[in-house]
Amino acid sequence: MNDVTAHQSTTPLPKHIAIIMDGNGRWAKQHGKLRHAGHRAGVENLRPIIRATADLGVPYLTLYAFSTENWRRPSMEVQGLMSLLAEFLDHEVENLKNEDVRINHLGSFEGINPHLAEKISQAVARTRDCKRITLSVAFNYGGRQDIVTAVKQIVASGVSPEAVTEELISAHLSTNGVPDPDFIIRTSGEWRLSNFLIWEAAYSEYWTTPVFWPDFTPQLLKQAVADYGNRDRRFGGLNAKP
Ligand code: IPE
Ligand code: IPE
Ligand code: MG
Repeated sequence: MNDVTAHQSTTPLPKHIAIIMDGNGRWAKQHGKLRHAGHRAGVENLRPIIRATADLGVPYLTLYAFSTENWRRPSMEVQGLMSLLAEFLDHEVENLKNEDVRINHLGSFEGINPHLAEKISQAVARTRDCKRITLSVAFNYGGRQDIVTAVKQIVASGVSPEAVTEELISAHLSTNGVPDPDFIIRTSGEWRLSNFLIWEAAYSEYWTTPVFWPDFTPQLLKQAVADYGNRDRRFGGLNAKP
């Protein structure tokens, strides 16, 4: 904690951290359990990490929970993931609201059971006025699909080609209103985006750890944020640190 606190005085904190919560299946295997048990352990890790992010003073957190490609998994696993989200929302929305967490959903409701879609909409509505941190849950989210949806909306609106700008495209993505992620963390040691925030991540800093998501701790989060503080973000320019 002290390291990070000391750090804050010299280097800005990321405004937006996005996490690819990977490795639930491998965690389960390591513990001789079913994959579903790994996903459950992963869900149990949400609260401590959301709280730790808020405590650091980071105002935006995005969690990748289910990708548009995750439908390729066996239907039992997919159904298990849907149930876990429903359960999480049933149990945690009130707590998150009390902690002043605004819930936002990234992705589509296509293929999602209407009861679950309703729960997600309600969670968003109930926490609309919360201010401490915006928690975006990417569920049934794919970066490419999000861009396709945006392009469809833009074309349907009849704008002229000259009016198409980066800002216009950003405004039609489901991340509209959320700043681009400064820092993307992926657990379980993989080095890829897996279709996560592919437009928004143009200049994100990247960090990975071999630790599986259920074992990812607030301490590791702080370590990651401290590492972020040493990055030299140039955005194509030359403002290198001395
Ligand atoms: C991440 O864990 C959770 C989801 C993708 C829903 P995985 O289920 O991908 O775990 P591994 O990669 O198989 O270990
Ligand atoms: C990315 O993890 C999606 C989520 C964490 C929700 P995957 O486990 O699905 O990614 P790949 O298939 O290994 O790239
Ligand atoms: Mg995985």
